[in-house]
Amino acid sequence: MEKIDILTMEQFSTDEIMEILNDAFLFKTKFKDWQFSKTRLIANLFFEPSTRTHYSFSSAQMQLGMKIIDFAPESSSVKKGETFHDTCRLFQEIGMDALVIRDIKDKYYDDLRDLNIPIINGGDGKGNHPTQSLLDLMTIYEEFERFEGLNMLVVGDIKHSRVAHSNIGVFERLGGNCKVSGSREWMDSEYNYIDLDEGLKWADIAMFLRIQRERHDDLIDLEGKTYLECYGLTNDRLNTMKDNAIILHPAPFNRGVELDDSIPECDKSRIWKQMENGVYVRKAVIKKVIGESFE
Ligand code: CP
Repeated sequence: MEKIDILTMEQFSTDEIMEILNDAFLFKTKFKDWQFSKTRLIANLFFEPSTRTHYSFSSAQMQLGMKIIDFAPESSSVKKGETFHDTCRLFQEIGMDALVIRDIKDKYYDDLRDLNIPIINGGDGKGNHPTQSLLDLMTIYEEFERFEGLNMLVVGDIKHSRVAHSNIGVFERLGGNCKVSGSREWMDSEYNYIDLDEGLKWADIAMFLRIQRERHDDLIDLEGKTYLECYGLTNDRLNTMKDNAIILHPAPFNRGVELDDSIPECDKSRIWKQMENGVYVRKAVIKKVIGESFE
């Protein structure tokens, strides 16, 4: 079988995306207990902090019957000067069937082209977060049973967000409409901007983003107001949204900053559902790169 990496959403046709989502839904419904037919080994190499992505991959891997190595950079030979490339290659040489990698560098995977085991991207800098995008799409499809004609508003620190960069293009390719909102300083000019209050009335899906402080310290002028008042989802703004609209956030979220305290638990929120669906899409992409079928 030819090696398959999961690096970006652009690498997939819309048919391939729907196939992965279909497998994720099968893991959620019909094949909850499905496991690989023989023992498979996988290493999780997180060079940047993570809770959801790291541990939902771990949960997916355990449910698939895999054996897992969880690499901890801070107690490894990285501290003795071993390079990123050589560290990743080591895990190929010691018998892994696949690697899950997150790193602060955009497109870190370009440095790993010589590896001959599959790489699943758990997030590269400001670039891509394909499994986050897949779990967002799964959550949207579960709600609306389509993408065509839906309006998605992405709000916040667009410029520094790999979640925004992964999601906007693919959502439009699947037939949805996408606009961005928030502070003008943190927008990418390639996307369609809309005022937040207008955008919330337009949106079927409102995705709020955390300020990515680990990637920049750019200040914005809030004119004496709080970030929540200017660009966050307050309960007043929530009440202006369409009846059947939903709220997403990739998390971790900061209550009282980009979301009012009670938003994650409100009726429109699918934020906790996104985390649950993360396990099913991660099972689906691991199955894809290992190359086993359900039957
Ligand atoms: N959404 C996301 O990537 O969360 P973590 O940083 O906790 O993995």
